[in-house]
Amino acid sequence: MSDFISIKKRSHYCGALRASEVDQNVVLMGWAHRRRDHGGIVFVDLRDREGLVQVVFNPDICPEAHLEAQKIRSEFVLAVEGKVRRRPAGMENPTLKTGEVEVMVSELAILSEAKTPPFSLDADTDLSENIRLKYRYIDLRRPEIQKYLLLRNRVAAEARRYFQDAGFIEVETPFLTKSTPEGARDYLVPSRINKGMFYALPQSPQLFKQLLMISGFDRYYQIVKCFRDEDLRADRQPEFTQIDVEMSFISVDDIISVMEGLMAEVFKNCLGRDLSLPFPRLSYFDALDHYGKDNPDTRFSMEIRDLTDIFRDTGFEVIREVIDNGGVLKAILVKDNKRLSRKDLDGIRDYIATYDAKVSAWARINPEGWTSTIFKYLKAEEVQKVNDAMDAHEGDLIVFAADTLKTIREVLGNLRLQLAKKLDLIDPNQFAFAWITEFPLFEYSDTEKRYVSTHHPFTSPVMEDLPLLRSDPGRVRARAYDLVLNGSEIGGGSIRIHQQKVQSLIFQALGLGDEEVRLKFGYFLDALEYGTPPHGGIAFGLDRMIMIMSGAESIRDVIAFPKTQKATCLLTDAPTKVSIEQLMELSLKIA
Ligand code: AMO
Repeated sequence: MSDFISIKKRSHYCGALRASEVDQNVVLMGWAHRRRDHGGIVFVDLRDREGLVQVVFNPDICPEAHLEAQKIRSEFVLAVEGKVRRRPAGMENPTLKTGEVEVMVSELAILSEAKTPPFSLDADTDLSENIRLKYRYIDLRRPEIQKYLLLRNRVAAEARRYFQDAGFIEVETPFLTKSTPEGARDYLVPSRINKGMFYALPQSPQLFKQLLMISGFDRYYQIVKCFRDEDLRADRQPEFTQIDVEMSFISVDDIISVMEGLMAEVFKNCLGRDLSLPFPRLSYFDALDHYGKDNPDTRFSMEIRDLTDIFRDTGFEVIREVIDNGGVLKAILVKDNKRLSRKDLDGIRDYIATYDAKVSAWARINPEGWTSTIFKYLKAEEVQKVNDAMDAHEGDLIVFAADTLKTIREVLGNLRLQLAKKLDLIDPNQFAFAWITEFPLFEYSDTEKRYVSTHHPFTSPVMEDLPLLRSDPGRVRARAYDLVLNGSEIGGGSIRIHQQKVQSLIFQALGLGDEEVRLKFGYFLDALEYGTPPHGGIAFGLDRMIMIMSGAESIRDVIAFPKTQKATCLLTDAPTKVSIEQLMELSLKIA
């Protein structure tokens, strides 16, 4: 059995055979995907990472191989030698890339037997994800999961080539380090040698890449793991991969254009798709106003419109009360509402009500006016102004909601997405990119009762907003940008502060004391004083990019060995308890 491998070399991947190989003698190795016995002949679909090919055991060609083939079961590992031939007319399989040919086997070696797998590898079976993750090495044999990882490999390779060609240098940064704040909790690693001390795994290489700019590397990139202990969602993992970039002596436009170039090459070379450059740019406030979110899905319009001014003096009291209290009334327009039943419309109202919005209503535009429960409370002139503002026509539907600005953005931002899904407004093959710019530098944290950084504290403010730092910190804009693709934030970055004085002002505005700042970032503040070039950068979430490019439903599908929603690994059972000896070595005690 082992002789076969030492004597014979594999000549082709199974999935790579084509009609051009007809009449050639080939040696293949792979897994038995399926075995069928038909009229005294055994057919096996032999599978490797490139795909399947049908191999045929005919007793007239090789009685020994035919006899041995009786033993083959699913997932046995085989080596075969044989001649490629064109399949008989009418027997071709157009669903297989190898479907024009088959291999007539003259020699078979069973290299490895296999237990019956816990699930079938056929794509259309509805598998429990927990079972898939427990036996991930088998799940990874499934062609659609392999497809995700192969795309991931190509994208990473393209990115490396792009950056190398553009004069970037890949530098590795440490994993055992000090906290790099990106707004999540740290994963901590206890130090055995320095008792009671902990390393933090990096939430990103942020400060190291800035130090590399101070060191003069000029253009850095790294495809790098980051670690964040945060609540997991469909597009978040506790360890994930960034394409991380930093550049010196550049403006926002320079960074945006380098990254647009990267996207264009990656999409062209990995998916064969031409992107139109430059990508549209939207300010943070415009994004919230038009889409209710700072990660808008711009594949469809259905933009949110503000109708507050029309209703400032309305006789409809519920609305006036909201507006008098500083609230807003906004609406979205659904073109051609016929596909929405009365039940759907009531569902929309109930949905808005789940946010406790003070007003939720809809109006169908009919030839004779509106069908709406609020129609009777409104003046004809108000109805006309709304129709004009919304550009509403017969057959359209307007959905209204009134409450505080924050609530209404959230309600209509989410409703917009739900309606687009329900009405099939999203073309699954479309890629809609948008840069979101001019983020606020700070957000007010109700829990901490102070301003916190929207991105991280090393982000540069827009210089003309510096005087607002004291008087109105919430209005200071950041020189920060996110890249959004199909409603998902796939990247974010900023121009950094390169002057120690400005950095101190920011720490003051964040209410961080000198001592705390020294303790956390003293090494970095020292470095800023030794000749820091103006610099900035960005990081892309590679996992999220692959998820969107491949149409995968979960980020877990595009990671070889992912964690569950509860941050566990079902394959290895991590995290696990450790022995008392290990704890003692580390001077740790479980409380
Ligand atoms: P940020 O925190 O925005 O920026 O992260 C950059 C990108 O990383 C992806 N991402 C994640 N992907 C999967 N799981 C997660 N838990 C997760 N968290 C983030 C997102 C995000 O856009 N140091 C800065 C970058 C910079 O300023 O240069 C940073 O890390 O796609």
